Amino acid sequence: MAVTIKSAREIELMRESCKLLADVFQNLEQAIRPGMSTKDIDILGEKLIRGHGCIPNFLNYNGYPASVCVSVNDEVVHGIPRADRILQDGDIVSLDAGLIYKGYHSDMARTFAIGTVSEAARLLIERTKQSFFDGIKMAKAGNHLYDISNAIDASISPYGYGIVRDLVGHGIGTSLHEDPQIPNFAQRRHGLKLHAGMTLAIEPMINMGRADVEWLDDDWTVVTEDGSWSAHYENTILVTDGEPEILTLY
Ligand code: MF3
Ligand code: CO
Repeated sequence: MAVTIKSAREIELMRESCKLLADVFQNLEQAIRPGMSTKDIDILGEKLIRGHGCIPNFLNYNGYPASVCVSVNDEVVHGIPRADRILQDGDIVSLDAGLIYKGYHSDMARTFAIGTVSEAARLLIERTKQSFFDGIKMAKAGNHLYDISNAIDASISPYGYGIVRDLVGHGIGTSLHEDPQIPNFAQRRHGLKLHAGMTLAIEPMINMGRADVEWLDDDWTVVTEDGSWSAHYENTILVTDGEPEILTLY
């Protein structure tokens, strides 16, 4: 899949797609509470997406069976929603979802605290979010991909957390996953030069312990190998000649 530069018209469609997705997340954040199942979150997410007249782009993607990935505690990403997985006070839950509006995809993720969480979990969530913001400062026309990757790595490295290496950010547009791939750890290779009109999903996935992950037998759920908890923060952004625009911000 090639790297694409969006036209002014396409950028408008991406903006709208991302705005609607941010609204879905705002509603999900308000709804989640202890006692809810991860399946309840998926049902609500799908309802909110379809309520905007949009299509959930994760549903049936390579056979993925839900609209929202719901990953709890040591689950890094791609948790499959289940009626018997109940959120408890003190858990952290990562929601990852996207939608298609008039052919244009959006993609975002957040990790939320359920009730009162440990200070260590709160810091993990906050620092993962901060690493995204440190990364996108570099997402300017004329910079290279490795400027983003290196900034995320530098943001996280003081804490000794594990930066997930097996999953990366990506271009996004008329497909959920376009080139380029965007690693969240330091690169020597400069990679692609950034141009105004590129839309990218930048998504650090950070483990409290080691970086290694493994896949469960459901073929989807990614968990940390050492059982440590993990956080995720993703936005779809637009590269411009000036400051980058965060299209899914709320
Ligand atoms: N949100 C993932 C990403 O950021 C994609 C999930 S695809 C699914 O790239 F099939 F798991 F839903
Ligand atoms: Co993504």
